[in-house]
Amino acid sequence: MQMDPQELLSLCKRRGFLWPAYDIYGGAGGLYDYGPLGAALKLNIENHWRALYVRGEGFQEIQCPIIAPEPVFKASGHVDAFSDMYVECTSCGETYRADHLAKGLHDNPATLNEEQLGKLLRDNDVRCELCKGELTAPKRFNLMFKTSIGAGKGKTAYLRPETAQGMFVNFSQVYRYGREKLPVGAVQIGRAFRNEISPRQGLIRLREFNQMEAELFVHPDQKTWPKFRDVEGVAIPLLPNSGDARTMTLGEAFRSKIISNEVLAYFIWLTYRFATDIGLDPKRLRFRQHEKNEMAHYAIDCWDLEAEIVYGWTELVGVADRGSYDVQAHIKHSEADLTAFERFDEPKEVEQEAVKPKYEALGPMFKGKAKAVGEALGKLPPASARGKDKVEVTVGGERLTVPSSCFEIMVRKEKVSGRKLVPHVIEPSYGLDRILYSVLDHAYRKKDDYITLGLKGLVAPIKVGVFPLMAKDGLDAIAGEVFDSVSAAGLEAYYDDSGSIGRRYARMDEIGTPCCVTVDYDTKSDGTVTVRDRDSAEQVRIQKSLVANAVSALISGSPLKSISALR
Ligand code: GLY
Repeated sequence: MQMDPQELLSLCKRRGFLWPAYDIYGGAGGLYDYGPLGAALKLNIENHWRALYVRGEGFQEIQCPIIAPEPVFKASGHVDAFSDMYVECTSCGETYRADHLAKGLHDNPATLNEEQLGKLLRDNDVRCELCKGELTAPKRFNLMFKTSIGAGKGKTAYLRPETAQGMFVNFSQVYRYGREKLPVGAVQIGRAFRNEISPRQGLIRLREFNQMEAELFVHPDQKTWPKFRDVEGVAIPLLPNSGDARTMTLGEAFRSKIISNEVLAYFIWLTYRFATDIGLDPKRLRFRQHEKNEMAHYAIDCWDLEAEIVYGWTELVGVADRGSYDVQAHIKHSEADLTAFERFDEPKEVEQEAVKPKYEALGPMFKGKAKAVGEALGKLPPASARGKDKVEVTVGGERLTVPSSCFEIMVRKEKVSGRKLVPHVIEPSYGLDRILYSVLDHAYRKKDDYITLGLKGLVAPIKVGVFPLMAKDGLDAIAGEVFDSVSAAGLEAYYDDSGSIGRRYARMDEIGTPCCVTVDYDTKSDGTVTVRDRDSAEQVRIQKSLVANAVSALISGSPLKSISALR
């Protein structure tokens, strides 16, 4: 049965997962608060991701500022190309994302340009959803939040629209920390910002959101990945951009060239593993390959992990081959040397081009600065000067234009021990808020008005409810001891002594707590407590001193039956 999106959102609000931000001022579109349960769920998802990427795969976790000066996003292409199309109602002024209005009119409206989209909306007489007014033609809108750094006019800056750029600009640091070897990877978990045109789907489209991104820097020729051998037999549901949806092993997908390289295929597997580990339903997951004309400006190939949720199939993760686009762009704009060094087995004699300064021309033109200009020319990549009638260099912070009469490109023979290369990047980029929402969506069950969140123990914000049958006769003191023992074992517990036991179970089931422990009068005589499993509602009795072990086992997926062996 199709759930009403408001049902889950209202549970989330009532039980402290999510609150619309700034509600007392009427709210603000696309901004949400995480309440205590939401914040805990988010942290558990993040920590599992960290376990896979940092501990499991050896990525370096870094943290960069969320605000960046304009040149960073000029270089990355976001200033010029990071936009969506919107239309505006000519009558009431409401704005809409143009491709969203075209859903149902075209297989994939994201592939259409302004003209095509405008024609599609006009031909189908699409109007304002609020007042039926006429809509303008689609216009582009840059999604970055613009700001400035410093007093007065300051320097133009932007809130980052992805955490990725912080890792690209730090390639040299990451490479050095990784002992100057490829492949090497960095990850970042943090906030990113996009001024979405009309965010209307709760956590699915936020203006301030959380990303978990990994940037794997590889040799440009790297096509194989040793760990792929371990996972190539795993079958994954794929929807390639040519052909039909099918479930096939990653090995078959690679051999039939549906997935272009093993590195990409391995991270598709890791993404699938992460998704199923945290409780997403494998029957409602698929990887969809982007159409060629749908891809972001930096991508060569991209596979999205999509989950089927109440809003339809929704992108949660993009696993993209970004090639050398970003690193090349930052080399060009910053003139920094963001290359890796490939050492040859034997030194080789090669013909090297170099920019050679002509001091006889530089002297009269640049006088006291001629030596520094000559040195700056000598450091220019020959390709940037070849065939040019002038080049620019920076000397003492000053930009100077140097005509071609002041330099020449010469070729010399040299013995070299290796070569510089610009790494390629494979990027698994995870939308944390969407993932969290989808985990809740897939966990939500309702039967005769009784709500259960079937959250996996790994991510559940509260691992165990601890109840005294009655808040008297010393049962409350024993329950307090049990609570302390599970807390001391690092497990989040919730103590509840009010209302009937049935109500207390219901409160825990509704927030996804995997098990509950009840202290009753038998506990006083034989030291045992009842452990109840959320999903089967079955109960076993175990010694109270074993509760922490039992809860740890249950949340790691052991069946309740195995817990009774702890007696
Ligand atoms: N870094 C990819 C994205 O933000 O979509």
